[in-house]
Amino acid sequence: MGNRLLFVAVKPVLVLDFGAQYAQLIARRVREANVYSEAVPSTITADELKAKDPAALVLSGGPSSVYEDGAPQLDPAIFDLGLPIFGICYGFQAMTRALGGTVEKTGAREYGRTQMLVDGGVLHAGLPETHPVWMSHGDSVTAAPEGFDVTASTPGAPVAAFEDASRRFAGVQYHPEVMHSPHGQQVLTRFLTEIAGLEQNWTASNIAEQLIEDVREQVGEGHAICGLSGGVDSAVAAALVQRAIGDRLTCVFVDHGLLRQGEREQVETDFVAATGAKLVTVDEREAFLSKLAGVTEPEAKRKAIGAEFIRSFERAVAGILAESGDAGQTVDFLVQGTLYPDVVESGGGTGTANIKSHHNVGGLPDDVEFKLVEPLRLLFKDEVRAVGRELGLPEVIVNRQPFPGPGLGIRIIGEVTEERLETLRAADAIAREELTRAGLDEQIWQCPVVLLADVRSVGVQGDGRTYGHPVVLRPVASEDAMTADWVRVPYEVLETISTRITNEVADVNRVVLDVTSKPPGTIEWE
Ligand code: XMP
Repeated sequence: MGNRLLFVAVKPVLVLDFGAQYAQLIARRVREANVYSEAVPSTITADELKAKDPAALVLSGGPSSVYEDGAPQLDPAIFDLGLPIFGICYGFQAMTRALGGTVEKTGAREYGRTQMLVDGGVLHAGLPETHPVWMSHGDSVTAAPEGFDVTASTPGAPVAAFEDASRRFAGVQYHPEVMHSPHGQQVLTRFLTEIAGLEQNWTASNIAEQLIEDVREQVGEGHAICGLSGGVDSAVAAALVQRAIGDRLTCVFVDHGLLRQGEREQVETDFVAATGAKLVTVDEREAFLSKLAGVTEPEAKRKAIGAEFIRSFERAVAGILAESGDAGQTVDFLVQGTLYPDVVESGGGTGTANIKSHHNVGGLPDDVEFKLVEPLRLLFKDEVRAVGRELGLPEVIVNRQPFPGPGLGIRIIGEVTEERLETLRAADAIAREELTRAGLDEQIWQCPVVLLADVRSVGVQGDGRTYGHPVVLRPVASEDAMTADWVRVPYEVLETISTRITNEVADVNRVVLDVTSKPPGTIEWE
């Protein structure tokens, strides 16, 4: 399949990125309206755009003023492609300039929530005549280009929205993509459906069907392997590939002993039952524990775990290769659960990279070279979950909270031993159970439970004095794990967790709550 992106059959709505972090968010909102979308740099030429065969264009906001030197420019020929175009904030102003309207520094800046007055038009039909929108602009459009109806205004923006239904052009000064514009999603959807005339066919079942077809085409009669981490991305990627090529996929699961309660069973039982995938589990618990003996420094732990993980995976793959070699087959493909945000962050690679054995799974014969299969590389996390559900994966897998690769190894402060792992597993299972029971899973991004294995404190239980370890609850809310806030878990829920852990987990006589945001604290303790 060369370097073409998946989904050639689906025409994208392309979001031209003028340098704000909003372009990806807009692409996500377009997809939430069930229309496929991708972000592209604003420097793209009309010819390059045409080659991508888009269904419509959205011009994003940006940090610049259209007057600044070096402000991102737009190839004016894009307005002659006959495509529907929606301009947002900076994109709205760039559109105005390109089509002969006027943008001025009026001195009336608007930042934040502003009341907007609607005056007819298609975009805002059905919305309250006056409603709040989120503004962030210094310059203002003072005259719309010819052919446009002005359909909204605010105190600082005499032209806050305009549309030209005959050319399928529209624009808004505010940011419809942010939560603070409460009707923004409706307006974006109305542009897509009412002005651009697009169908809302980007649904989980269509996505899954397309992806399965794409994988089938890419892999042909080949064989693939996929490392399962227990996380949602690798599980959904594997399930898709399994649907596409059946038993020519072998899944590999390394049990490093640093898993939480029930995780191995989730993969071995629930995942396999839901997908019918061929699974090889390798029990590497002893190997990891022996490598971790005496290691207390966090970075040293991570390195030891990471290195041993690669070695275990290699051993498993070498075994599979040897077996398939006996059967006269080779394994050509490695499945990875890469998501769209990773692709964008790494410069929008086109997925042609081959992984040489010595780079990733070193130790395999030199002539082994895997081609990558990355069926999720155009999906956002919520879409991955929706596809997982569509494929029949159970909620425990689809809704799994993020869990670090080094597992419980970096949640034991001190040396990792089997006994300590058992203690932490038990405490963690209780916390997870109670948070789920209290209906907090949506609100909590993840809740590490940390065992302070090198700390002891005095307690009293029954008639006796105890000298046990504390565990820390670290419930956090986050959008992307880059920043986080601690979650105000109701006292009654904390009380239940604390009582149960101290009663049911030997060796733990104290439960404490971490009330630090990130920054300054990281989410994990190590
Ligand atoms: P921190 O502790 O840096 O964590 O605030 C941010 C997010 O990343 C997860 N995390 C990891 N994930 N391998 C992973 O796959 C790792 O080594 C690792 N360290 C932290 C952490 O759980 C949180 O979601």
